[in-house]
Amino acid sequence: MDTRHIPVLCHEVIDFLKPKPDGIYIDGTVGLGGHSTAILENSVPDGRVIGIDLDVEALAIAKDRLHGFAGRYALINGNFAEIDVLLESQAVHAVDGILFDLGVSSLQLDTPHRGFSFNHTGPLDMRMNGGHGLDGDVETTLTAMKVVNNSTIDVLTDIFRRYGEERFAKKIAGRIVQARQQGPIKTTTQLAEIVKRTVPQKASKVHPATRVFQALRIRVNTELENLATGLDVARSLLKPGGCLCVIAFHSLEDRIVKHRFQTWARTCICPPKTPVCICEHSPSVEILTKRPVLPSVTETQQNPRARSAKLRAARKL
Ligand SMILES: C[S@@+](CC[C@H](N)C(=O)[O-])C[C@H]1O[C@@H](n2cnc3c(N)ncnc32)[C@H](O)[C@@H]1O
Repeated sequence: MDTRHIPVLCHEVIDFLKPKPDGIYIDGTVGLGGHSTAILENSVPDGRVIGIDLDVEALAIAKDRLHGFAGRYALINGNFAEIDVLLESQAVHAVDGILFDLGVSSLQLDTPHRGFSFNHTGPLDMRMNGGHGLDGDVETTLTAMKVVNNSTIDVLTDIFRRYGEERFAKKIAGRIVQARQQGPIKTTTQLAEIVKRTVPQKASKVHPATRVFQALRIRVNTELENLATGLDVARSLLKPGGCLCVIAFHSLEDRIVKHRFQTWARTCICPPKTPVCICEHSPSVEILTKRPVLPSVTETQQNPRARSAKLRAARKL
C-alpha cells in the first residue's frame, strides 16, 4: 500500500477509542481518511464518523476512500477549533470519541504546488486550506511567501525561534532580508538554499531547513492557537466515558496537549503555596497515557512518517 495512506498509530488509537456499534466519533483531522476508516470498521453496524479537515483536496480523497460506509459518515470542510459550531449542521451535541492527528498530511507534503516541502520546488504557500477560505476569500489569506517577504528581521527571528526552536533564527532572518534585496523569495527551494548556506553544515539526517519550514507552516496556519482552542472545545463535546486521542509530531504541539490534559486531570488548581485548597476544582478527565505512546520499530520501518509521532489519550469523567 502507498505509505501516504497508512494512518499513524492506528491500532493504538482504536484501543483507546474503543468504538461502539452505535457511537458517534469526530475525526478532527480526517486527512486521507485512514483513521476514519478504522473507526468505521470497528463500530459496525451503526457507528458514525464526522470527519473534519481544512483541506478540500484531502476531503475529496477521504470521500472516495469512505464510500463503502455510506450513511455512516459526514465530511465537513472546516477548522477543528470550531467543531462545536460545525456540529450544529449535524444536529450532534455530544460524542463518544474524538481524534486529532495533527500536522500536515503526506498529500500536502508531497504536492509541490502546496509549498510545504523543501524536497519539491513549489510556490512558498503552506496554507492547509490551499487558499480555499471558508468565506471564499482566496487572496487575502496569509501565505509563507507573504511572511518571508513582508516581515521585518525581528518578526522573522521570533517566528523561527518560537515555532521552530531554531538556534540560528537571527542569522537566517538576516540572510533572508538580505536576499530579498535582489527580488522576492518565491519558491521552497530558494528559501531552503538560503537556510542551507546560512547554518553551519553538520552531519545530520535532518535537512537544515526543517525547523524554518515547520515554523512558517505553524505561523501561516495558526496551528498552536487552533490546537489549544480545539482541545478545549473537544473536551466540552465528549460524553462521560468518551475518549480524546491526540497525535502530535513535534514538542510544541505535544507540550500543549500534555499541559492541557494535566490541568484537566488535577484535583486542585489553587496557586502554589496556598496552605489549604480553596478552589473546589474537580478533575474532568482521567489521563490514559502517563507517558505518550510511541510507534513501534516495525511501524516506523513500514512508515517513516510515524517516526516522531506521540499519542496521548484522556477519558472524560
Ligand atoms: C496528519 S494529517 C491526518 C491524516 C489522517 N489521520 C489519515 O488517516 O489520513 C493532518 C490533517 O489535518 C488537517 N488539519 C490540520 N489542522 C487542522 C485544523 N485546525 N482543522 C482541521 N483540519 C486540520 C490537515 O489539513 C491534514 O489533512
